[in-house]
Amino acid sequence: MSMSFSLTKSLQNTFPHAFPPFADSLSFWVLLIPQWLGLQGDMGLALAVPVLTVLVTVYFFYSRRPRQTIWRLTKSRGPRKSANHKALIIGVAHVSGHRELDDLDAAHSDAQRIFQFLLKNGWDQDRIIKLVDTRDSPSNLRPTEANIKRSMRKLVENARAGDELFLYVATHGFQRDCKGGDEEDLKDELIYSCDGCEIVDNTLFDIAIKPLPKGCKMTVLFDTCSAGTGMDLPYRTDRGISEEIMPKQLPMTSVKPKMRESNGSVVMWASCHDGQASLEIQVTEGNKTYKTGAFTHTFLQEFRSSEFGSDPSHRNLYGRIRNTFLEKEIPHEVQLSSSLPLNVDDRFSV
Ligand SMILES: *[C@@H]1O[C@H](CO)[C@@H](O)[C@H](O)[C@H]1NC(C)=O
Ligand SMILES: *[C@@H]1O[C@H](CO)[C@@H](O)[C@H](O)[C@H]1NC(C)=O
Repeated sequence: MSMSFSLTKSLQNTFPHAFPPFADSLSFWVLLIPQWLGLQGDMGLALAVPVLTVLVTVYFFYSRRPRQTIWRLTKSRGPRKSANHKALIIGVAHVSGHRELDDLDAAHSDAQRIFQFLLKNGWDQDRIIKLVDTRDSPSNLRPTEANIKRSMRKLVENARAGDELFLYVATHGFQRDCKGGDEEDLKDELIYSCDGCEIVDNTLFDIAIKPLPKGCKMTVLFDTCSAGTGMDLPYRTDRGISEEIMPKQLPMTSVKPKMRESNGSVVMWASCHDGQASLEIQVTEGNKTYKTGAFTHTFLQEFRSSEFGSDPSHRNLYGRIRNTFLEKEIPHEVQLSSSLPLNVDDRFSV
């Protein structure tokens, strides 16, 4: 009896997750069974070990806790995304200290729509961080400058080939004169945090794009004013270009992107060009009316458009968003950019 008990103990030490908290008392009672049956020594052990195994296995399948432990140990399974993945969603409605910036109506609800979109596409909710400045948002999940930078570092830390990352930003954006001489338009683009700080594109690139290793994929969505080169990616669509005449490979910007090298494969969809403002629109679906970013809304609608059948190519999706903007007279243009040369006829997936 003491022999099999210590066997249970050492198993328990080796596989701590596999043993329910009551394993000690369980093994005690199970080990009484051979005694009741009058079995001794090895015979008792031979009976007790399989019985204990069956009970632990039953516990495994009918209790939730160990199952979650298994999910975590094996990363993800079943309907979940197979690649190692992480997402960061940022929605800033109010920029403090800047009276000239109106509060955004849709930043929070759009952040939530993107969250749902990721879940629907197999992303694990434990791997999505959402920073929003809602009234009940805890201080570590508010989109302050410090939290945005820290979360971006966390997003890309330990990234490896095969990983998939996602970044969504809805906030006020702006342009200002550039000091570095690395912008075609001589302007840096920046985004605002909820505590009123400006985070410029060069900083975003250094934190979130530059460290990415070869083979790591990142999708970025920016729904902000001056979003176009908000991540300073070196390959991008020209202004006003239609999907039919878009070259097969995204052209490189005219300014030599010496500071813009990354080995990661980043594709960014931006709501507008650098000099443009992004609109929020009102949408009515059935008897429900809500505000949403024109870009966020159109992206979500067109991504799963039945016309594509499955995942769209970059060219298709660009064309659909551009044409919807034209039809609905939305006065800004979607822009597509990338960190590496991008074949726009490749499929785009999330
Ligand atoms: C990209 O990878 C190469 C080869 O491993 C390395 O030399 C280079 O520094 C990397 N570039 C960046 C921006 O990390
Ligand atoms: C809105 O429509 C849904 C179904 O489409 C219905 O169940 C609900 O009662 C309607 N709400 C109002 C306020 O009309």
